[in-house]
Amino acid sequence: MSHGSNRRVITVSDPVALANMAAQRLLARIEASDGRIAICLTGGSSPQKLYQLLATEAWRSKLPWPRVHWFIGDERFVRAEDPLNNMGMARRVFLDRCAPAANVHPIPTDNSATPEEAAQRYEEELKSFYGAKALDPSRPLFDLVLMGVGPDGHTASIFPGYPAVSETRRWVVGVPNAHVEPFVPRVTLTLPALGSCREMLFELAGSEKRAILTRVLAGENLPANRAHSTAGETIWLVDEAALPEDFGAR
Ligand code: 6PG
Repeated sequence: MSHGSNRRVITVSDPVALANMAAQRLLARIEASDGRIAICLTGGSSPQKLYQLLATEAWRSKLPWPRVHWFIGDERFVRAEDPLNNMGMARRVFLDRCAPAANVHPIPTDNSATPEEAAQRYEEELKSFYGAKALDPSRPLFDLVLMGVGPDGHTASIFPGYPAVSETRRWVVGVPNAHVEPFVPRVTLTLPALGSCREMLFELAGSEKRAILTRVLAGENLPANRAHSTAGETIWLVDEAALPEDFGAR
């Protein structure tokens, strides 16, 4: 199947409403369990409003920070303090102020020689956190996985036509060249690892997302269409500006 049959599109008015809805879903996922929680973040501009919201006192005081662990679905192979670093962005916007340092799990770009080495080390870290070397469909790796979509239909750093799209065994792989800007090597979780979650939550806002969303909803075989939660819900949170004009008619 080229895309998850469990996808649900939720539309909201604008980026502010979208961030609020995403924060509510994140909190609901956390409150669904009283144990350790694992959230996989994403980079790019789409989640930034959500991250800003989580740092506000109103939201910050709602989250049980000591039991929430933060991972990243893909990383640009640049140093941790580089402005392009995805986890660096999340740290600056909210994690450094809110989360215990030991609960933040960045992809180790600083002391890895290659993207592949960083991928192998992160895969080991994920396996040790999970407590097993194989994913068990009845016990998802993540409670929530955040995702964005690029103009070519990539998600995380899984680009159309690249080998990472069809990876079934590895949890994390190195990606020597990016398909879109910024043109730096990447490290990405694979579809099976990202899909091992109770909820996969895509965020798309703005008219610049309309063209790719139209292709996704038409069922094109794109990485973003192949990404879905294998254990739970797949939600596409979309604002009005990103919606195809004929959306209501579908
Ligand atoms: C990255 C992201 C990537 C992103 C999409 C959408 O490293 O760039 O993880 O997958 O989510 O490219 O990016 P925008 O949110 O900036 O549109």
